[in-house]
Amino acid sequence: MIILGIETSCDETAAAVVENGKRTLSSVVSSSLEFHKKYGGIIPEIAFRKQLETIAEIVDCAIKDSGVKLSEIGAVCVTGSPGLMGSLLVGLSFAKALALSLRKPLFEIDHLFGHLYAPLLTENTSVKLPAIGLVVSGGHTSLYYVRSFTDIKLLGSTRDDACGEAFDKVAKILGLGYPGGPVIEKTAVNGDPAAVKFACSNANAALDFSYSGIKTAVMYYAQKNKLGVYSKGKTSSEKKRITADVCASFQDKALGVLVDKTLAACEMKKVSSVLVGGGVAANNSLRDKFFKAAAISGLKVFFPSKANCMDNAAMIAGIGYHIAKKGRT
Ligand code: KG4
Ligand code: ZN
Repeated sequence: MIILGIETSCDETAAAVVENGKRTLSSVVSSSLEFHKKYGGIIPEIAFRKQLETIAEIVDCAIKDSGVKLSEIGAVCVTGSPGLMGSLLVGLSFAKALALSLRKPLFEIDHLFGHLYAPLLTENTSVKLPAIGLVVSGGHTSLYYVRSFTDIKLLGSTRDDACGEAFDKVAKILGLGYPGGPVIEKTAVNGDPAAVKFACSNANAALDFSYSGIKTAVMYYAQKNKLGVYSKGKTSSEKKRITADVCASFQDKALGVLVDKTLAACEMKKVSSVLVGGGVAANNSLRDKFFKAAAISGLKVFFPSKANCMDNAAMIAGIGYHIAKKGRT
């Protein structure tokens, strides 16, 4: 079955055509990120106005790129939640109108389940289910029990900030810009992860997370050492070195807890496959940590391609295939 996926939950406008939940025939993503950068975060009003302007063109482009005719589309799948209200409405309204005009079924997809499905968007990847799923993005840090792609249960999530959000806030404190994840990863390469003793709270529950404490610890450290937004005048090479150490030390602890809790979930549920998705899954250090842990514990860990870690519509069309097969319109 050929599925058209539409995704507009945050700053992106995305459309994709995927065959049988595997073969990506096209995937187009347009982002309004450039317009938000100066505010240090996504401004919902700007996001949905840009989406209104671009959605028709993006869907058109995805159809043309795929080489299939609109009439060959078996179903339309669209992100229904979670996301920004105005942004979701743009995608949902467009998808509803299109499905109605084509007389095709419409399926509403959970954005986070799409992230969990992203590692499977490669033709030769097959995963033994049940699996433990970890979504680490700018808005979510959640562990799931994935019995099948139509039966996913939440096991734990963050009590406060999301992991990606903590990266974004720490980058802002250190004056490194937005989005924080990629720039912290880059800066951390020249730093020592053992230089500063940060710690990630245990969240008082085995499979929950907490990132606000470590973020605040970075803020106090930056205040004390006059780094980033607390620095006056030019950044000296000494301050650059300390900033690199702070990035490396923060990153090490912020990512380490993801691996520890995922392994704990695998043990609890007696499963040996792990699916990781969301923007933070693009981080090379996270991938290394997981692959090292997997080599010791015998787990199989699956990551999406770097592009499919970010918000896209192929993941929506991909998991949509399994939901469409069940016929839950
Ligand atoms: O999944 P995503 O594109 O959007 C949401 O659904 O939230 O994730 C965006 C988040 C941002 O917080 C960004 O800083 C983070 O993912 N991110 C990273 C990296 N690339 C993006 N975090 C750590 N390391 C990265 N390389
Ligand atoms: Zn996302």
